[in-house]
Amino acid sequence: MPTTRATAEEHSAVRTLLRLWPYVRPVRARLFTAAFVAVLASCTGLVIPLVLKWMVDGPVAGRDPAGVWLGALFLLLLGLGEALLFGLRRWLVARPLSRVEAEMRADLYGHLQRLPVSFHDRWASGQLLSRGTTDLMLVRMFLAFPLTFLLVNGVTILIGVTIMLLQDWTLGLVILGPAVPVIVTCVLFERRYFHVARLAQDQVGDLTTVVEESVLGIRVIKGFGRHRSQAQAFRELSGTLRGTELRKARLLAAIWGVIVTLPEIAIGAALVLGSVQVADGDLSAGTLVAFLSTALALRWPVDSIGFLLAISQDAASATERYFEVMDETPEDAAVAAADAGREDMGLRFDHVVFRYPDAPEDSPPVLDRVDLHIRPGESMALVGATGSGKTTLTALVPRLHELTSGRITLDGRDITALPRETLRELVAVAFEEPTLFSASVGENVLMGDEEGDLDRALAVAQAEFVHALPQGTGTQVGEQGLSLSGGQRQRLALARAVVGRPRFLVLDDPLSALDVHTEAAVEAALREVLAETTALIVAHRPSTVLLADRVALLSGGRITAVGTHHELLRTNAEYAHLMSGSGETEENR
Ligand SMILES: Nc1ncnc2c1ncn2[C@@H]1O[C@H](COP(=O)(O)OP(=O)(O)OP(=O)(O)O)[C@@H](O)[C@H]1O
Ligand SMILES: [Mg+2]
Repeated sequence: MPTTRATAEEHSAVRTLLRLWPYVRPVRARLFTAAFVAVLASCTGLVIPLVLKWMVDGPVAGRDPAGVWLGALFLLLLGLGEALLFGLRRWLVARPLSRVEAEMRADLYGHLQRLPVSFHDRWASGQLLSRGTTDLMLVRMFLAFPLTFLLVNGVTILIGVTIMLLQDWTLGLVILGPAVPVIVTCVLFERRYFHVARLAQDQVGDLTTVVEESVLGIRVIKGFGRHRSQAQAFRELSGTLRGTELRKARLLAAIWGVIVTLPEIAIGAALVLGSVQVADGDLSAGTLVAFLSTALALRWPVDSIGFLLAISQDAASATERYFEVMDETPEDAAVAAADAGREDMGLRFDHVVFRYPDAPEDSPPVLDRVDLHIRPGESMALVGATGSGKTTLTALVPRLHELTSGRITLDGRDITALPRETLRELVAVAFEEPTLFSASVGENVLMGDEEGDLDRALAVAQAEFVHALPQGTGTQVGEQGLSLSGGQRQRLALARAVVGRPRFLVLDDPLSALDVHTEAAVEAALREVLAETTALIVAHRPSTVLLADRVALLSGGRITAVGTHHELLRTNAEYAHLMSGSGETEENR
């Protein structure tokens, strides 16, 4: 699976994160204000040591209780101010950032809908799920926290160090000592961590895929007693993920060790040196207090850098994963061929060649020069052995896949030149494996078509059983609602296809799951619908074939014969063979 991509090329976390700008732009004013407020709050914190110095050298030394009270009041006010400002920052960013996250998620979802089916064939759904959920959460966390605090802490450290140097430059230099090793550690850390963060996110995607498949395929898994091997696969993947997370934790522990220990030692050294100076009378006690409390105030900004960098790296690789999906080009970008004029009406396949994009290079194409003309108003049955490419051919008409070469025209218009909405209006499809969405029966059939005639569609599809459901057509079905049988789902899918009275109808074996009596009833009703449309119907049984005016035989990637059912039975051995297995007499028309 090409979903987990090795990221060999040189990375720039900053460049990746800059791609977030279009989403952040609308909320930039708030973000900048919040950053400014946070810097202000931090600087307020830095004033506290200066007040302490004033207290120690002034009222405390002079034994003036009133002065001490005044100083204490001042400290209280400063503390309150700092707390209020940080609260304000939080309030400023919370709402706009959740909007950024929601918008990115909506864009991702929209993009996934537009991407061609071939993309979805290639990408594991769990990878897409994890990108749309956990990754975007990481991005929001980054925008809320590290983005501001890397700046705020940087400024705070700079101002704090300046204050310390101004207090006493020798002590200041002692404190600055660890700066170089800390910076080197940060750079080394950043590079390694990015790689591991990306690995962990990809593994979460793989894990999501396994969970999703197990849930969706629970019947098959139970039916075949595969739960043990599925659990084994899950355990292995989650074990790998655990290993990667532990690697992340080790890296984080290492950087944290360096970042916390070295400055702490420097503070200790400064304390000893400062005390000696005070004892010698070279330094006022107040200055030492101010100096040390500034150093202590800078502890959190310095300590937090490791963890801020870690979140930033997580977010950078999450952003990368997000844009990997967003950078895939949607199908509309495929070149639209010129309009062919209107001389040949109906549904035409001209030299249609199709190969699945993920098929091996040397395998023959599934469809190899298919030529077929379905005249306006005609219904054509498509017959072929299993695996001959019937489903594939039907999926090409609504452009679920793009042709490798050749063209398909509807009333003379190339389908690649039609706007997508027009194509969807012209062509309705019902697939072999019908999907119902978590919505009411009515919504599932209408699929947003406000004007559709629901009752007629249900009647055509012989889906009157829905009226017997608890809430009739308002009954919730799909994953979050009532489960329907295969045949019931098939009939709803058929109703969905005919509800909008499309000009072209493409049905992939729409009656395969029905019992003989229901099938006969559906066929009778369908015959009327087929009379008004141009239709292509994949069929396995003679009874379905008989609905159509003509039959086309798909074999070896080509249409090898076209004619009426009876003609083909007589003249084509393969066709006769395909039809003979069904055990029905075909003379009952
Ligand atoms: N998404 C896909 N990616 C790659 N190959 C595919 C894909 N779907 C189908 N194929 C291959 O294309 C060939 C034709 O499949 P298709 O589903 O069109 O057959 P079919 O005629 O509809 O068969 P059936 O009668 O069993 O429904 C098969 O060999 C199948 O392996
Ligand atoms: Mg099929």
